[in-house]
Amino acid sequence: MGGRQTFRLLIVGKSGSGKSTLAREVIRRMEGRYRHLVIVNRKTEFAEFTEGRYRVSEEGDPRSALRRHRKVIFYVTGYDPRPFLDALGQEIMRLRDVLVVVDEAYHFFPRGAVPRGLFEVLTGGRELGHNAIFITQMIQGATGGIDPGVRKQASHLVTFRVTEPNDVRAVAEHFPELGERVRDLKRPEGGLPPEYAVKNLDREEAGLVLRDPRDPRRRVWVRLT
Ligand SMILES: Nc1ncnc2c1ncn2[C@@H]1O[C@H](COP(=O)(O)OP(=O)(O)OP(=O)(O)O)[C@@H](O)[C@H]1O
Ligand SMILES: [Mg+2]
Repeated sequence: MGGRQTFRLLIVGKSGSGKSTLAREVIRRMEGRYRHLVIVNRKTEFAEFTEGRYRVSEEGDPRSALRRHRKVIFYVTGYDPRPFLDALGQEIMRLRDVLVVVDEAYHFFPRGAVPRGLFEVLTGGRELGHNAIFITQMIQGATGGIDPGVRKQASHLVTFRVTEPNDVRAVAEHFPELGERVRDLKRPEGGLPPEYAVKNLDREEAGLVLRDPRDPRRRVWVRLT
């Protein structure tokens, strides 16, 4: 057996589709099941989960931050933060049971320019009990996307509404059972929750989380096969 069960969730969806809200829910439910929480963000969002908050540009000192705090956010402002993310990934690989959250992942894992250290966490972190949540507005949008090698490491694809044609195609490639229907998923509005679809990429299981037609404030799980 290759270590414990871990996940690498890739959460995709347009702006305002409900990604961060779901990620918060997952982080909350994971409480007690990780030793370290490391959040990487271009925004200060998710800082509420952390006790150590650091603003970093190209360079930074992840080691002392990770020694000082069990739950840390790195608010990354630099144009090319790869040196920092390389160092951060190396430090994470010295730890066990880390939950890594990367918001706006297309900034940090652009096609062909992936920080090796952080990529290592995705490939080698399973044995160390590391879990990861990557959040992105686009997989392969017209204006950018995330590296295909990073996509391949995801254990689960969670997708909210996506409409941009390149992205619809990219979602369908990983999630053929859903295909073009990704466009029809409902966005959150008027207090009603968004709809989303989940695919376990390791086990080829998939399902939809849809509003219940009898009470749209509630949601129902619909299995896709
Ligand atoms: N489960 C939910 N129930 C009710 N409202 C929701 C739910 N999820 C999200 N919303 C509402 O939808 C709005 C957008 O949600 P959220 O911030 O999670 O989107 P996002 O996909 O992270 O957007 P961005 O890409 O801009 O970061 C928020 O106002 C939020 O309150
Ligand atoms: Mg968000």
